[in-house]
Amino acid sequence: MAQSGVMKDDVQAATDHVVGLHDVSFSVEDGEIFVIMGLSGSGKSTAIRTVNRLHDVTAGSVEVDGTDVADLTKKELESFRRENMGMVFQHFALFPHHTVVDNVAYGLKVKGLVTEERRRLAYEALELVSLERYCQSFPRELSGGMQQRVGLARALAADLDILLMDEAFSALDPLIRRQMQDELLAMQGDLLHKTILFITHDLNEALRVGDRVCIMKDGAVVQIGTPEEILRDPATAYVAEFVKDVDQGRVLQVESVMTPPSPFTLGTTVGEALAKLGVKGSAFCIDDDGKPVGVVTRDLLTASHQAPVESVMRTEFGVTNRAALLVDAYELCASGDLVAVVDDRGALEGRIHALDLLAELGEIESKAEQVKTADLSDGKLRQ
Ligand SMILES: Nc1ncnc2c1ncn2[C@@H]1O[C@H](COP(=O)(O)OP(=O)(O)OP(=O)(O)O)[C@@H](O)[C@H]1O
Ligand SMILES: [Mg+2]
Repeated sequence: MAQSGVMKDDVQAATDHVVGLHDVSFSVEDGEIFVIMGLSGSGKSTAIRTVNRLHDVTAGSVEVDGTDVADLTKKELESFRRENMGMVFQHFALFPHHTVVDNVAYGLKVKGLVTEERRRLAYEALELVSLERYCQSFPRELSGGMQQRVGLARALAADLDILLMDEAFSALDPLIRRQMQDELLAMQGDLLHKTILFITHDLNEALRVGDRVCIMKDGAVVQIGTPEEILRDPATAYVAEFVKDVDQGRVLQVESVMTPPSPFTLGTTVGEALAKLGVKGSAFCIDDDGKPVGVVTRDLLTASHQAPVESVMRTEFGVTNRAALLVDAYELCASGDLVAVVDDRGALEGRIHALDLLAELGEIESKAEQVKTADLSDGKLRQ
């Protein structure tokens, strides 16, 4: 019925069977954090559970590194799970009578490592989640969030290439949750390079941690894209509704609002600057290394036309880089002056102006609203 286009609710009404997933296709690249996001019941857990075949699919296939998981025998499946992927779930059980370090080391037993080696690896994993001081504690002596981090450490200790994380952070309070997201990103950036399938029902979290995000609804894929693509171009009213709730400044990078700098070089005269600046203009002045040394605004250009701009320019200005989040540039932009965007060597590669930044944020808001309105009038938003 689903294949012939009958909707999930109608299938359920007619047959009392639930369509878990329908027409869901995506591939996760090596070393990528791929996020599946959607409301409760949209099929996220079902999807992730097909990857290690906790669920069998009735049509289509699931391939991991060239292996079709449906082809594995029971025995092969066991070692496939053990050797390829770690799992972190929202509700997972720690052994209450084992210490934290032994809980983490437990998963390594099957690898045939000696106790000392297992403990050492477990301790290192606990360091990654900042719980090394609690290695001798028992789970009951830890808060819920700390227990969750033990679960993450357990998955990390096994050092497998793939991590399946189903709402792994959802039970944490917002601050700890942010901290865990940061830790995950830092770990992934520095040393992990794992392939991570990450599930969440929170779009802010999805856009923050995901290299790409897949948005699901009623067991089907609604949109797959980079965080920026999702923000700028929500595919349906369902996505737009989520987007309107997102803190864009924590997703978009400075790069997305910076403009070419067109700077002056040292020695440019006030006369030349006036001719180039236009009525309201302002520009940076760079030194011989391309580094910004000052800002020239039109109202500063009152000196003799022969004077060099460096004699009148303002030497205090905000500096950021292209990878910084917009939220980190807000304060710099608040003065209304130009902010310099510099590269690794400190050379000027772009500039941002508070107005560009506001325009960008406003554009995303209105785009989301447009998609919502258009989609609603099409009758596409069913619920
Ligand atoms: N064991 C099961 N047997 C039958 N139906 C199930 C089972 N598990 C889930 N479902 C159904 O499959 C659909 C998708 O559920 P799933 O658990 O994948 O949702 P989810 O997106 O992970 O939601 P949540 O955010 O609440 O965890 C739901 O309609 C649910 O009723
Ligand atoms: Mg779920």
